[in-house]
Amino acid sequence: MIEPSKRSELVSYPIRDIVQEAKRLEKQGTQMIYLNIGDPAPFGFRPPQHVLDAAAHALTQNYSGYAPSDGDPELKEAVASFEKVAPEDVFITAGLSEGIDFLFQAMVDPGRNIILPVPTYPLYLTKERISYGTIEFYDCDEKFEPDPDSLRKNINKYTKAILVINPNNPTGAVYSRKTLQSIIDIAGESKLPIISDDVYDQMVFDGEITNMRDICKDVPVVCGNSLSKNYIYPGARAGYLAFHGEGWDKMKDAVQRLCNQRLSVNWEMQRAYIAAIKGSHDHIHKFNSELKKRRDILVKRVKEIDGLSVAPPKGAFYSFIKVESDKWKNDTEFVRGLLKCGVVVVPGSGFAPNMDGKYFRLVFLPKPEQLDEAFNRIEKFVKG
Ligand SMILES: Cc1ncc(COP(=O)(O)O)c(C=O)c1O
Repeated sequence: MIEPSKRSELVSYPIRDIVQEAKRLEKQGTQMIYLNIGDPAPFGFRPPQHVLDAAAHALTQNYSGYAPSDGDPELKEAVASFEKVAPEDVFITAGLSEGIDFLFQAMVDPGRNIILPVPTYPLYLTKERISYGTIEFYDCDEKFEPDPDSLRKNINKYTKAILVINPNNPTGAVYSRKTLQSIIDIAGESKLPIISDDVYDQMVFDGEITNMRDICKDVPVVCGNSLSKNYIYPGARAGYLAFHGEGWDKMKDAVQRLCNQRLSVNWEMQRAYIAAIKGSHDHIHKFNSELKKRRDILVKRVKEIDGLSVAPPKGAFYSFIKVESDKWKNDTEFVRGLLKCGVVVVPGSGFAPNMDGKYFRLVFLPKPEQLDEAFNRIEKFVKG
């Protein structure tokens, strides 16, 4: 037997892990509705045509060599002008996932931590673990707004940065300006930088969003974004990190080295990203109005089911639903039971290992009829 490394055993990805079990049941004849992965493509949403055209056009040009490791200079310029930083503050990555990987590699030595919101996007948990960091959380309230007191209390002397995900995966929460301001104040007091995960920042259908970059003043912030969600193109694997404010020089050197060692991001998708940033953003209004329709169905259906509750999502396409009933021992038992009824969702403990195991994450991307059908099955299962 060839043994994998101890480090590899620290890697898990609950969003995809659940699929294996779903596929097994599917083989046995259960028809599944997949509400586990945040990918709009299987639900019929497409990237804007001009973005696809730019990728196709790039293929006909002479882009066969490696791109510069830190990114296509024209894309860096486009991102820099959007983010209001200098091009040398921008690093292009293979999706924000690679940017997150680079940040952990550059910031987290063993025993150190980037403090995470709970619930959180699971990749951050994995990266913290495989950096041999410690996992430190700050709590959110019942509407999933970060709790500043909890943040202040849980920052320790080994904390290297504060993570904010806004809009949030898995909750769909969009944070108030006041909350963001409190986080900035705490970061200032503690002399810590902020990592602002903005991958869903254009996908807001209730109210406005305030972005960290616009209010951080002299607190250093690194913003991460990508083509995946805002431009409905997760398969493109193009994203970036943009460093705002002072004090980042050594960190930027480290990220540059991390970019160098993996050579480059593919040219074609970087050309597509330029078209995305510079071109029409009409798609986002349509996308958001479709999402709002689905969100309204979700909230109505959850309200009608005795034993479930949800804080209405205001952005992205996720909901973190609470199982109020004690019929199930924990979230895994609930999710496994629901799988047998043909609905695939993710146990909440994958996002919130320290919460009470009473939540599941449901993606509300399907067409209204399919979402309703999923809720018919969920209702039947919960009523038992
Ligand atoms: C909060 C959050 N951050 C980052 C990512 C990674 O996105 P990508 O690597 O596709 O840019 C995701 C993907 O689902 C996400 O939900």
